[in-house]
Amino acid sequence: MATKTSEPHVRTSRAILDLPQRPRRLRRSAAMRALVRETRLSPDNFLYPLFVIPGEGERREVGSMPGVYQRSVDEIVKEAAAAKSDGLPGVLLFGLPESKDPAGTGASDPEGPVQMAIRALKREVPGLLVVTDVCLCEYTSHGHCGIVDGEEIVNDSTVEELARAALSHAAAGADIVAPSDMMDGRVGRIRERLDEAGFSQVAIMAYAAKYCSAFYGPFREAADSAPAFGDRRSHQMDPANVEEALREVALDLDEGADIVMVKPAITYLDVISRVKQEFGVPTAAYHVSGEYAMLKAAARNGWIDEPRAMMETLTSIRRAGADIVITYYAREVARALA
Ligand code: PBG
Repeated sequence: MATKTSEPHVRTSRAILDLPQRPRRLRRSAAMRALVRETRLSPDNFLYPLFVIPGEGERREVGSMPGVYQRSVDEIVKEAAAAKSDGLPGVLLFGLPESKDPAGTGASDPEGPVQMAIRALKREVPGLLVVTDVCLCEYTSHGHCGIVDGEEIVNDSTVEELARAALSHAAAGADIVAPSDMMDGRVGRIRERLDEAGFSQVAIMAYAAKYCSAFYGPFREAADSAPAFGDRRSHQMDPANVEEALREVALDLDEGADIVMVKPAITYLDVISRVKQEFGVPTAAYHVSGEYAMLKAAARNGWIDEPRAMMETLTSIRRAGADIVITYYAREVARALA
């Protein structure tokens, strides 16, 4: 077993086993446990996802995600300001447009909900990082992540639309764009378009190893992005694969990703761990809607102690190696840590 640090005074676990030990000595008090704790959580580790809708003064709770709301831009500003006061470094924006079309052209509308929210946040909540999800599924009338030809999602024309969307986010003031579509080559094309347009300082957080997961169910209600036919197996990863995740991460880094993401989190802790160990780059994990909904549902039934289950879950994701955790619990955990 590998030890967590490479400092020379750290013995191998084999050598430790040869020593007489009473591990309970180090568990006797809260202060002792804090002294030897290996994984620490700070509000700095978390990004808070928000769903932007058109209108004003609008705030609608998502049925399958208690405590999560769709919000108009003015409400987004209030919530983001509160998140900043809780100590969170940034928010991740998703948009629900007024209307959809087969090509998802609304994704790059400069007056779209996400673009308007970015400008409002940059003006009214200075210092807060604005990260944007880049995908077409919220903008296409069929709910797929790209342009379709029959049942096929066409890679290269989708990549062009994604790059246009990313550019519109950068132009509105986004700090980080986060492509979540899983098309091939999109990170490279987005980097190229951003650089050409003078946005070389805008970072890319790539959803590099995004699995085709049942745990996105509640999100599709929140973002109104369920596919009208078929599924996402032709582009999202097979849950059985980990070597492939490492290839996906290598490709995205080669194309210019600054941060790589594994998604979902708790069913892919091994993937997070491998990615962090093999690449050593800033690594994010997305604790997704279904993971959140499961905890909320069990807590509402009185079956688990929610604050403890939340902390244990988020600690496990950090312990696996994630530097950044994207979670709907971001404000709750930040307040719990205060
Ligand atoms: C967009 C996207 C999805 C999520 C983040 N970006 C849904 C999907 O791929 O179907 C899921 C987030 C969550 O479940 O919380 N493609």
